[in-house]
Amino acid sequence: MTKETTYAIVVEKLTKRYGELLAVNDISFTVGKGEVFALLGPNGAGKTTSVEIIDTIRAPTSGKVTLLGMDVTKRKYDIVRRIGVLPQGFSSFDRITVRETLQFYLRLFCCMNTDIDALIELVNLKDKTKEQYKNLSGGLRQRLGIAIALVNDPEVVFLDEPTTGLDPRARREVWEVLLGLKEKGKTVFLTTHYMEEAELLADTVAIISKGEIIAMGSPGELIENNTKYLDLTLQSVDEKAFEVVRKMGFDPLLDNHRDIKVRVEHTDDVQKILSAIKDAGALYLGLDVRKPNLEEVFLKLTGEALHDGYVEEKGAE
Ligand SMILES: Nc1ncnc2c1ncn2[C@@H]1O[C@H](COP(=O)(O)OP(=O)(O)OP(=O)(O)O)[C@@H](O)[C@H]1O
Ligand SMILES: [Mg+2]
Repeated sequence: MTKETTYAIVVEKLTKRYGELLAVNDISFTVGKGEVFALLGPNGAGKTTSVEIIDTIRAPTSGKVTLLGMDVTKRKYDIVRRIGVLPQGFSSFDRITVRETLQFYLRLFCCMNTDIDALIELVNLKDKTKEQYKNLSGGLRQRLGIAIALVNDPEVVFLDEPTTGLDPRARREVWEVLLGLKEKGKTVFLTTHYMEEAELLADTVAIISKGEIIAMGSPGELIENNTKYLDLTLQSVDEKAFEVVRKMGFDPLLDNHRDIKVRVEHTDDVQKILSAIKDAGALYLGLDVRKPNLEEVFLKLTGEALHDGYVEEKGAE
């Protein structure tokens, strides 16, 4: 078996220029079959450009992309039958109901054998089949968009920022749907700027910044390889405890006059601090040990924060 047939997606030295602007700069990676792959990066990093070259919509400036063993610039017609796409900023027909919309797309893609009720069930829209698109909340709209991407029972599904602009609850409901796709063994190519989303859903995360992939691996590997600390918080400490930690050579912060926050390198350090506090007869009421997350990995690698705001949803759930 060749690399091209082993993997669902093979991207080699992909570059895209828009005139003077180098939007994607020589990126290479592979996506295994059945894998959830997330391209994580801030606005303008080159996520949509990359995904839309891989799913045949845009043409690369240079480099090679193979999808399901086929060159994306040469076999577009064969490829689109085997993939599904939820574009960034998806929208649909305002006055058409959920069921009518899906029936239309089933006809459009010649997929009359697709079980429409199973599809509606999969994206959890059973109670909304008679609702017009214009009356759906942001989360329901995205779930309809995901259903449309699935009408042809695709092997690879591309989802470009499926939860951007959704409130936390609607976002979690979309995640449930995506976890269902993962269980069904679909290959999922996701773009996002939400690190919790990448951390929760993806087997592999590629961090993209200014058109370049700056780190790649499982969420655990990325955190392990790029951050070597733990944040310990001791809650409701008495004054003695702060002095004890400081005298041990750590650099504690006192938060709200009652909590100690201290960054340590090893779990052993946590143990040492707790023992020293106990030996000094000092008290604390609670403790929390937190590992760094992908947000901190991104910050460390780029010196910038990943934007993470959300806009209130429109309409009723
Ligand atoms: N069709 C286009 N023509 C010219 N420039 C473009 C085009 N599409 C994107 N760009 C530019 O290329 C860069 C990468 O854009 P892209 O949309 O790929 O980023 P992104 O990571 O998807 O961002 P976002 O999170 O905002 O969706 C940006 O500077 C953008 O302005
Ligand atoms: Mg984009």
